[in-house]
Amino acid sequence: MTPPSSTLRAADQIAYLDQAAASDPGRQYKQQLLTALDLRPGHVVLDVGCGPGTDLPALANAVGDRGAVIGIDHDPAMLEQAQQRTAAHTHVTVRAGDAHALPLDDASIDRARTDRVLQHLTDPRQALAELRRVVRPGGLVALAEPDWDTLAIDAADTATSRAYTRYVTSKVVRNAAIGRQLGRLLNDVGFEVASIQATVAMFHDYQAADAILRMPAVAQRAWQSGALDENAARTWLTSLTNGPFLAAFTFFTAIGRVPTTNS
Ligand SMILES: C[S@@+](CC[C@H](N)C(=O)[O-])C[C@H]1O[C@@H](n2cnc3c(N)ncnc32)[C@H](O)[C@@H]1O
Repeated sequence: MTPPSSTLRAADQIAYLDQAAASDPGRQYKQQLLTALDLRPGHVVLDVGCGPGTDLPALANAVGDRGAVIGIDHDPAMLEQAQQRTAAHTHVTVRAGDAHALPLDDASIDRARTDRVLQHLTDPRQALAELRRVVRPGGLVALAEPDWDTLAIDAADTATSRAYTRYVTSKVVRNAAIGRQLGRLLNDVGFEVASIQATVAMFHDYQAADAILRMPAVAQRAWQSGALDENAARTWLTSLTNGPFLAAFTFFTAIGRVPTTNS
């Protein structure tokens, strides 16, 4: 979920992803995706942009030893961590690959998921077209992406809150509005859209929000680039840690189905 994750060192990024997965909103939407995938014993399931293997054990348990789990990522540090975390699961394979050109055969996958990956890609539509190619007729994909345009951080200095969100959407996250686009993009590449859900990730606790949003680091980048006034941003940051805190953003999940020939 984090805007600045692309700037973190690998170890920090892995720690960040673990924190996000363990947060209340993180656990909720990941369970929601797992349920929506309707995994059965024997299924072949793909996680594109699997990161440090966050979701691979749950997928492995759901498909059982007769099934197979494939995790794909383009980052060697993530792949190494994913391999370590799934060493006990013989039916999990972790592979290097690009979401834009999956190293998989046509219609070879029963279920696929991608979780906060499309927001970073140069061409999310191409990545979805690849999912459409590799998932078999009747198969399902589950997508989860934030919509950073909706990031609302309460502060007396509303102008700095707005400028901060503008900085995140224009300079930090490549596809900041991807959340709201999921249904349209699924439709464009030939999926039937089975469901779209929007939930609000809301934080009343500064520390919990900061674990996800990394506000001081992002604000510093913003004032160093001239997007925020440094004094105003420092005062804004201090104000966030004093008194009641509220930050929220909308998080979208979408389920797509590959049409069967007679549907
Ligand atoms: C925010 S992390 C999410 C990781 C994991 N899905 C999770 O929920 O913990 C995004 C992941 O996408 C991977 N990624 C980004 N661009 C990619 C690409 N073009 N092909 C494959 N993986 C990519 C990154 O290396 C990173 O591991």
